[in-house]
Amino acid sequence: MDTALLESTANFLVGPGRGILAADESNGTMTKRLESVGVESSPETRREYRASLFAMPTISKAISGVILYDETIRQNAVDGTSIPDYLHARNIMPGIKVDTGAKPLAGHDGETVTEGLDGLRERCAEYFEMGARFAKWRAVIRISDTMPSEACISTNAHALARYAAICQEQGLVPIIEPEVLMEGDHDAVRCYAVTADVLAATWDECKVQGVHLPGALLKPNMVLPGKGHSTRSDVETCARMTVDLLHSHVPHEIPGIVFLSGGQTEVEATAHLNMMNNMGPHPFQLSYSYGRALQATTLKTWAKNRDDVSVAHKVFAHRCEMAHLARSGSWSANLEV
Ligand code: G3H
Repeated sequence: MDTALLESTANFLVGPGRGILAADESNGTMTKRLESVGVESSPETRREYRASLFAMPTISKAISGVILYDETIRQNAVDGTSIPDYLHARNIMPGIKVDTGAKPLAGHDGETVTEGLDGLRERCAEYFEMGARFAKWRAVIRISDTMPSEACISTNAHALARYAAICQEQGLVPIIEPEVLMEGDHDAVRCYAVTADVLAATWDECKVQGVHLPGALLKPNMVLPGKGHSTRSDVETCARMTVDLLHSHVPHEIPGIVFLSGGQTEVEATAHLNMMNNMGPHPFQLSYSYGRALQATTLKTWAKNRDDVSVAHKVFAHRCEMAHLARSGSWSANLEV
């Protein structure tokens, strides 16, 4: 294992003022997103949209890495070069989603285990050759009165650790993503407790598998009540609970935490990250790996202005700038338009 390469990639990804753009929606998810804005989904329209994002003039100020889907890593950028080469040329690391999705967990209705370990070594080797330097695997944990089961937590933790070990062997920094969903009517205290259990199981498995933590990143949910809960947390409560959880449940050798947005609005996800960074110093960088919280408004704007990408670029540049400011706790609500 090339620990120096892994550590330098991980530290690059969470460098000052920058974070990750998650553009790795599966074809199924991207089709729903494109159709929701009236655009037919095809390999070419998916390429057109994503290539236009990557071409935003100031993207490199806020984005250190982009997570790609298998289709996208094989496509070309606006200038005809391959997307991984194009991103490298803009000082952005290409990453790749390597899981093959959350599948029903046998004997546990409503729960899933994320698959994709078969052939993973060979796929990682191919992605590295294509220019990828990091990877993502998302485990999905659902909360209800009876969920998550021990089986769900332990099978997903085991798979995450095996994925991480294989990626590191192949020179890719693994983003370890155990997402506790916001669906449900649980309160924030329950989200905290479940996330703590899931993290503990994940680190135990990483230890067994020999994962090199300074060459890995964690992509967690923030601590929030379920969407169906009667009250919402204020920004400070979410930030305080999340920071408290991470300080006590994440090994301090991990160089960075790159949050998912998980259904928060663009402004909520920015405000929470900003508040957490204001509560520093932290033992690790607190950054982003947002999908919807960087793209939601941009996608709608792009769909209405496909003949003039500068309109969508303006919207995307604003979201990137807000995320960039949140990395240092310098964002404020009055900067939102
Ligand atoms: O795995 C989840 C995505 O990479 C992040 O997407 O920020 O929309 O939750 P999200």
